[in-house]
Amino acid sequence: MRIAVLKERAAGESRVAMTPETVKKFIALGATVAVEEGAGAGASIPDEAFSEAGAEVLAGDKAVAGADIVLGVQAPEVAALSGAKDGAWVAATFDPFRNGELVEAYAKAGFEALSMEFMPRITRAQSMDVLSSQSNLAGYKAVIASADEYGRAFPMMMTAAGTVQAAKCFVMGVGVAGLQAIATAKRLGAQVSATDVRSATKEQIMSLGAKPVFVESVEGIEGEGSGGYATEMSEEYQKAQAELVSSHIAKQDIVITTALIPGRPAPRLISDAQIATMKPGSVIFDLAVAQGGNVEGSKPDETVVKHGVKIIGFSNTATHLAADASALFARNLFNFLSAFWDKKAGKPVLDEEIGDAVRLTQGGKVVNERLAG
Ligand code: NAI
Repeated sequence: MRIAVLKERAAGESRVAMTPETVKKFIALGATVAVEEGAGAGASIPDEAFSEAGAEVLAGDKAVAGADIVLGVQAPEVAALSGAKDGAWVAATFDPFRNGELVEAYAKAGFEALSMEFMPRITRAQSMDVLSSQSNLAGYKAVIASADEYGRAFPMMMTAAGTVQAAKCFVMGVGVAGLQAIATAKRLGAQVSATDVRSATKEQIMSLGAKPVFVESVEGIEGEGSGGYATEMSEEYQKAQAELVSSHIAKQDIVITTALIPGRPAPRLISDAQIATMKPGSVIFDLAVAQGGNVEGSKPDETVVKHGVKIIGFSNTATHLAADASALFARNLFNFLSAFWDKKAGKPVLDEEIGDAVRLTQGGKVVNERLAG
């Protein structure tokens, strides 16, 4: 069983899908590991660290030659896989709803694409879930980047020259990233409030010492669909939410938005008119900017200033913490493949529940239910 790791090809991607730690673990399972030269550079992992862990560090195409499994952070183009075995598995993120052509190309080339974003949200798959591991770091980074752009301090400070007021920070969307954003802003000393469409998050917000801000006036809302993900809300709810947010947002210094709905563009949470009510110097971080944005006018990797408010957001937030993000991503992939390792066969054999969920292509066809129709 030969496992290959390529240097990421996507612009601005500094992460890597394997670390020396997971090289050793895969070798302990009986696999051989090939790593493309320079694959770890963006995550501060030199080639020598991979060789010392037992990997073969090879140039370009040679790394992928003869691979049974290729691991990636972002799925490589099919052209980068020539030399991999027929029917090789490629485990990576595919962004399958938006990358239909790439998925088709994998099917045509006969590869088995395993999309890590489609990992089911079940307890035993938690340690394999790259969305969680990367979102957690992204939530942290969103607060740190906002604090950096903010011309004031986060904590209250009493000094001889007078008192510095604590920043007011509002987190919209309390999934994995939002919870970490709340925790990080609290640690920095901000006064934190948060909202979500899923009422189950109310307790989580309070347990972190933040104030929940919720639409109470609309009957029968729950907001939670399958797998713990949010559903799209009714017009009535959206109107009530917009009113609530408008009055709250005008008093905030920092707003972090994290709202996503799988397979759909990110919901719009903040309009230009709402931005206009905020104080000059306030900062909004749009964590959903790459999925269409929660904030009107946000642009990936740009600082947009509207009405004196700075709106920021990264196209790829986790890559800004490449070393930690790679370490967690690599462990997620190892946890996934090792959980299914069949000692006799010397390779992983996926079960139905997880295999069918993550497998996009097999036997020359697109086979995933979520991509049908
Ligand atoms: P996500 O990244 O899909 O969305 C972020 C947050 O935005 C969610 O909390 C969502 O409810 C919220 N949101 C969507 N539309 C909104 C709107 N209009 N206004 C305000 N908020 C809105 O969510 P994420 O981070 O992936 O987590 C969702 C849930 O799944 C959480 O409860 C998490 O704990 C759970 N989870 C379970 C896992 C497992 O059991 N293996 C793994 C990962 C997450």
